[in-house]
Amino acid sequence: MKIETLNEVMIISDEELKSLTDAIQQRHGIDFSCYEPKSLKRRIIRALHVLKFNSVHELWVKILKEHGFIYSFMDEISVGLTAMFRDPILWIKLKELLNSDFFSSKDLTVWHAGCSTGEEVYTMGIVLKESSFSKPVIAKATDISKNAIEIARAGSYINMKMDEYQQNYVSFNSRGTLRKYFSDTNAGIGMMDTKLVSHVTFEYHNLITGDFNARYDIIFCRNVMIYFDNGAKLKLFDKFYNSLNDNGLLIIGFYDAVLPLIDDKKFRVLDMDSKIFQKNSSSVS
Ligand SMILES: C[S@@+](CC[C@H](N)C(=O)[O-])C[C@H]1O[C@@H](n2cnc3c(N)ncnc32)[C@H](O)[C@@H]1O
Repeated sequence: MKIETLNEVMIISDEELKSLTDAIQQRHGIDFSCYEPKSLKRRIIRALHVLKFNSVHELWVKILKEHGFIYSFMDEISVGLTAMFRDPILWIKLKELLNSDFFSSKDLTVWHAGCSTGEEVYTMGIVLKESSFSKPVIAKATDISKNAIEIARAGSYINMKMDEYQQNYVSFNSRGTLRKYFSDTNAGIGMMDTKLVSHVTFEYHNLITGDFNARYDIIFCRNVMIYFDNGAKLKLFDKFYNSLNDNGLLIIGFYDAVLPLIDDKKFRVLDMDSKIFQKNSSSVS
């Protein structure tokens, strides 16, 4: 069926959505059943525009016929809106914790789940560098968008974004400048100093279907769960709980409307303003 275009409004029917997501699940094992249908439809419409398809059916055929195409589709579907030093209050609080004796283990393990193009990961690299924390740090940064992961690995961001990030950074450190962490290229791109993330492994990972087989002191999962329904969010909280070391921290996004879903037997609020929760280690999972 041709996509209906009415005053720039496009509509995907429930049947079209189901046939597309069933095909993707069968062919590629990617499960969309826990994504919120309205927002998923909006993002598929956006992908149809960008990838220049005239109908859901055309897209469906391409997804079934061309194995590698699913990654281009997923790049468009996943909304990677992010920024360096997003929510400065969080980074101020984290620096405070890093400067105290809060993290008592011999090293610090960190997971950036849904890291998008890596701005959060570079931010953490800068916060670590500007703190007095001196223990080894090992981190993993994952996302469902392979394209986003590649950008994160390269640490290259257009200068226009760098200007916005500089403003966020000043709220974190009014005496510093982000400029010392990147170099300009002629193409209007800022290249981050990748030494900031030399302790980080960037990997593809799907939070709905992927493994959770390591333990961390800090898990960031900010502004990712907004796409999931409540059942998926609850499952994810359990998996994060089991993936945290005793007293480990779960940091969620300012846009994640999940507070009523957080089990206070498992997580206590460490700092509500910066959305930091701490694993309640006395609870049995
Ligand atoms: C809005 S960005 C958030 C980036 C960063 N955490 C922040 O808050 O600035 C959401 C990211 O979640 C990723 N994402 C969506 N569904 C995912 C899934 N099932 N598994 C892993 N990542 C996913 C998207 O690809 C996107 O890069």
